[in-house]
Amino acid sequence: MKTKSVYIHIPFCETICSYCDFCKVLYHKKWVDQYLEALEKEIKERYQQEEIDTIYIGGGTPSSLSMNQLTKLFQITNQFHKSDQVEFTIECNVEHITEEKLELFKKAGINRISYGVQTFHTNYLAYLNRHHTKEEVREKIELTKRYIPNINVDLMYAFQNETIEEVKEDIELFLALEIPHISTYSLIIESHTVLGIKEQYIDDGLDSNMYETICHDLKQHDFLHYEVSNFCKPGYQSKHNLTYWNNEHYYGFGMGASGYVNHIRYTNTRSINHYLLGHYDYQKEELTKQVEMENEMILGLRKLEGVSLSNFYQKYQKQVEEVFDIASLIKKGLLEVQNGYIKIPEDKIYLSNEVLVNFIGDV
Ligand SMILES: C[S@@+](CC[C@H](N)C(=O)[O-])C[C@H]1O[C@@H](n2cnc3c(N)ncnc32)[C@H](O)[C@@H]1O
Ligand code: SF4
Repeated sequence: MKTKSVYIHIPFCETICSYCDFCKVLYHKKWVDQYLEALEKEIKERYQQEEIDTIYIGGGTPSSLSMNQLTKLFQITNQFHKSDQVEFTIECNVEHITEEKLELFKKAGINRISYGVQTFHTNYLAYLNRHHTKEEVREKIELTKRYIPNINVDLMYAFQNETIEEVKEDIELFLALEIPHISTYSLIIESHTVLGIKEQYIDDGLDSNMYETICHDLKQHDFLHYEVSNFCKPGYQSKHNLTYWNNEHYYGFGMGASGYVNHIRYTNTRSINHYLLGHYDYQKEELTKQVEMENEMILGLRKLEGVSLSNFYQKYQKQVEEVFDIASLIKKGLLEVQNGYIKIPEDKIYLSNEVLVNFIGDV
């Protein structure tokens, strides 16, 4: 299988959000300059000159870089042989966006922007340690549309004391932005974060109601629900994320990045010192065919369309039912076969984790 996607991790943030357990460090000019040198070196060593269909620059906060640093970053990404239809995304925070940066993005070939908006409620923004205002979000998104209209926004919910009405208000304000993609996230309380010290999860029933509300309201506004937590206007599915859910190969460059190349899943070091010294590796594992087939199901069933039975056979020369006991899951109503795809019925998608565990370690 060819590697046609690239993830690049930029771990710098100007402030640290109270919930975040991603691989990140506070922005420091000298570190960023050194980091870009190390990143260039890693890409030169590992990239095998394939044609690339999707590039995703994530973080951290890539938009926190200065104009000079972003210019250097795009000189690095220029080394990739991009296909004509390449999807090239960068994650941004609205606070960093200026016309100058948008012009630079456009010149560099960026054609998709993902903003971490999270919520419009000022009390929850403070709780999350996020520093934008409602007006800033609206203004920067309108500005972005003039340069790059293919925009995603991240919507978070399930904060302590949050009500369904507040989630509905957020949904309305997100819809009013008139953007083509929304990714949703139920708050995960990570132990090594500020929220992890004392915060508790909200009630499961309330979380499920919030999820149902989001699905219902977005669908009412012609958004397709195409993955457990992702919604888009027709034709705006994230090609890059589909690489992950279709269990295809991709490079992961940068500190803490993960990749999947030549049947090897690997993760880079999360230590900035090691990374700057060129010691990229943290973990590597060559996957057996059995594990690859399990991943095909676990990742693919996150898509509402499910896993193509013919594609599974082409990839593994086995039928899905030869490998997994799907009959019992179909009998329980947790899976169904439709038009050559095996999928989780839409009304059970909230319970997807309960279905997916059945594919771990099955023989
Ligand atoms: C890779 S993060 C970083 C994006 C960018 N730095 C930002 O914060 O806007 C992408 C998204 O993951 C979500 N996220 C991060 N930590 C989370 C957590 N603990 N629980 C739920 N969602 C989380 C947030 O919605 C965030 O925008
Ligand atoms: S959520 Fe984004 S901005 Fe906040 S600390 Fe994590 S990576 Fe940085």
